[in-house]
Amino acid sequence: MRRVVFNQKGGVGKSTITVNLAAIAAAEGQRVLLIDLDRQGNATRYLLGDAEAPEGAGSAAFFDNSLKFAVRESSAADYLCETPFENLHLMPGSALLDELQAKLESRQKIYKLRQALDKLAENYDQVWIDTPPALNFYTRSALIAADSCLIPFDCDAFSRAALYELMQNVAEIQADHNEELQVEGIVVNQFQPRASLPQRVVQELIDEGLPVLQPYLGSSVKVKESHERALPLIHLEPSHSLSQAYRQLYAALG
Ligand SMILES: Nc1ncnc2c1ncn2[C@@H]1O[C@H](COP(=O)(O)OP(=O)(O)OP(=O)(O)O)[C@@H](O)[C@H]1O
Ligand SMILES: [Mg+2]
Repeated sequence: MRRVVFNQKGGVGKSTITVNLAAIAAAEGQRVLLIDLDRQGNATRYLLGDAEAPEGAGSAAFFDNSLKFAVRESSAADYLCETPFENLHLMPGSALLDELQAKLESRQKIYKLRQALDKLAENYDQVWIDTPPALNFYTRSALIAADSCLIPFDCDAFSRAALYELMQNVAEIQADHNEELQVEGIVVNQFQPRASLPQRVVQELIDEGLPVLQPYLGSSVKVKESHERALPLIHLEPSHSLSQAYRQLYAALG
């Protein structure tokens, strides 16, 4: 199963959700690969902390190589590294992705990630892709490479407006490039059960027939601590209510 976590709106929880769900999958014994396609490298830092990614590893190096002619085509496996967590491998993200983008676009490398993941299919049970807050070359590559798309939603009115555009973008990718792509669901993040606006906004999505996943993820200061200590929530505090919600959400994905 290959999942992309996507929302072109910034700061809705993409990287946090990708890392935590991937960490749960790995802790349950699945062989998991996380691909960081964001030049901010937040998922990478979340998993590696201050440790430098090994030289040569990274999504930028992978895409850069796709621009070069080689007699022997390299494998995406050459650009991965281990993380401190068993069963969880990483293709790190970095700012180098920026300068490559225009070239990748003009040389039509949009299927490269999909092809590379097809070849790696035997090595991993699950692939999780974290994306930047934009519909750019990298997000489109991810949507073309994935079977399924999770959409984090942070319960505000602007996010709701952005959601319609997002669903249209996904539908366009489905129609033009990837019929297999499913919108697996909307992940409600930083939900405040006692405030009326978030409840109303989420209920509207449900009433419109959008696939809103359960349970909703609450808001907790533990998330920032978890980032700072480079420990996914299930490793930082397994019994915390947010860790449990993440586990239930993972189980609901099937
Ligand atoms: N459940 C939560 N509780 C509290 N804070 C959260 C929660 N989820 C995310 N955050 C906070 O929200 C901010 C954005 O989260 P994150 O970086 O995961 O979003 P993103 O969508 O990946 O952002 P970007 O679009 O910049 O890549 C972070 O500061 C993070 O600490
Ligand atoms: Mg992010």
